[in-house]
Amino acid sequence: MKKWNSENEAREEIKSLVASYYEQFKKNDRPFVPGDRINYASRVFDEKEMMSLTDAALDFWLTTGRFSDEFEKAFAEWIGVKHVHLVNSGSSANLLAFTVLTAPELGDRRIKRGDEVITVACGFPTTINPIIQYGAVPVFVDVTVPQYNIDVTKLEGAYKEGKTKAVMIAHTLGNPFDLKAVKAFCDAHGLWLVEDNCDALGSEYTIDGVTKFTGTWGDIGTSSFYPPHHMTMGEGGAVYTDDPLLNRLILSYRDWGRDCVCPSGRDNICGHRFDGKRGELPEGYDHKYTYSHFGYNLKVTDMQAAVGVEQLKKFPSFIERRKHNWNYLKEELLKASKDVLGKLVLPEATENSSPSWFGFMLTVNVPGGRNKVTSYLEEHNIQTRLLFSGNIIKHPCFDDIRGTDAYRVSGSLDETERIMNDSFWVGVYPGMSDDMTAYMAENIIKAVQNL
Ligand SMILES: Cc1ncc(COP(=O)(O)O)c(C=O)c1O
Repeated sequence: MKKWNSENEAREEIKSLVASYYEQFKKNDRPFVPGDRINYASRVFDEKEMMSLTDAALDFWLTTGRFSDEFEKAFAEWIGVKHVHLVNSGSSANLLAFTVLTAPELGDRRIKRGDEVITVACGFPTTINPIIQYGAVPVFVDVTVPQYNIDVTKLEGAYKEGKTKAVMIAHTLGNPFDLKAVKAFCDAHGLWLVEDNCDALGSEYTIDGVTKFTGTWGDIGTSSFYPPHHMTMGEGGAVYTDDPLLNRLILSYRDWGRDCVCPSGRDNICGHRFDGKRGELPEGYDHKYTYSHFGYNLKVTDMQAAVGVEQLKKFPSFIERRKHNWNYLKEELLKASKDVLGKLVLPEATENSSPSWFGFMLTVNVPGGRNKVTSYLEEHNIQTRLLFSGNIIKHPCFDDIRGTDAYRVSGSLDETERIMNDSFWVGVYPGMSDDMTAYMAENIIKAVQNL
């Protein structure tokens, strides 16, 4: 068996072998050939992520640890919030963000069963699932095309005094919703604002001359690090806030509902592990096993965080490339004939925003045309996606509660229906070259010409 002089020397050798492995087997620098598969998203990484993952594997700490700490700190600095907590997915991040708002510590503002949360039906299911799972009532309002975000003119109509407690919505495919209007509405009525930032990491929004990243304007922001997203850890997510009480609640609900905030594997950081009386427990009952909430375990592993640490270093370049690809695709499509452009609705960035695009949304103006266009593109090896659920209320998961007061629809959902029937999107991920984008534009135009 091989012997090294030190653990450090062993690690360096193993990591350098991993780098060579990446170079020989994982690096993909083959130029695009028309007809090659163009996925809507993909991981973009190099030897650094694989070496960092190896480092974490060799630590064999396995649970949340030094890489998670490093990531949370670096991410908080980058996005500009005080508190960031890693979780095991974007869905877990949304579950946690919603659940902390049900905590007794929040007094009158606590979301109770039967209270209402304003949201949209046109999006990803796990933005709204936690509301239904808890027994609160999602109130669905329509969205606008071509921004694909909540129609803020419908907010007041959806509000019910004493019932509405929060707004919880995503920034659709990177395009920020009208944060100015939504924030003003929330502030006016004392509502929580949860920004599902899973598809918009790196998007910016400006209010009264102040520019901040999306996810940091509301009370809580959430991210997903699933591979197609803006940056990846494999599985992973984050919840962030500036509020000290929400921060404490996030930690408690994430980590089994416990009262104590000692990190995994470390005891008695506060020095009060065996004193104090809580609930109806005996005096001095171990604080580490004292539960102030009905929590979960949603922690991330250090292997995932180790990948994230390296992805975050590359992240500013990812944002720039996403913006470039989206703009380039739009420019190429705008070269199409009047006839083609008349049959297509091109996407538009929300006013006062600088989106870090997740995808490029298109709506086809010809009845039945959307499926013909997506079939054509898929046949030409261009991957397409629908706007997730289209209209979540139409899905089988609603069969059991359809028409009941488990949810409410405020106004018409005409544009939501339109998106479900006529819209689709293609990717703009940072691994896409101009040749790929031009090929996509060419084929979208051809597909629409055929309608
Ligand atoms: C807007 C939005 N929110 C939440 C999620 C859930 O993220 P995850 O897949 O990491 O659970 C997704 C997933 O893609 C999403 O698009």
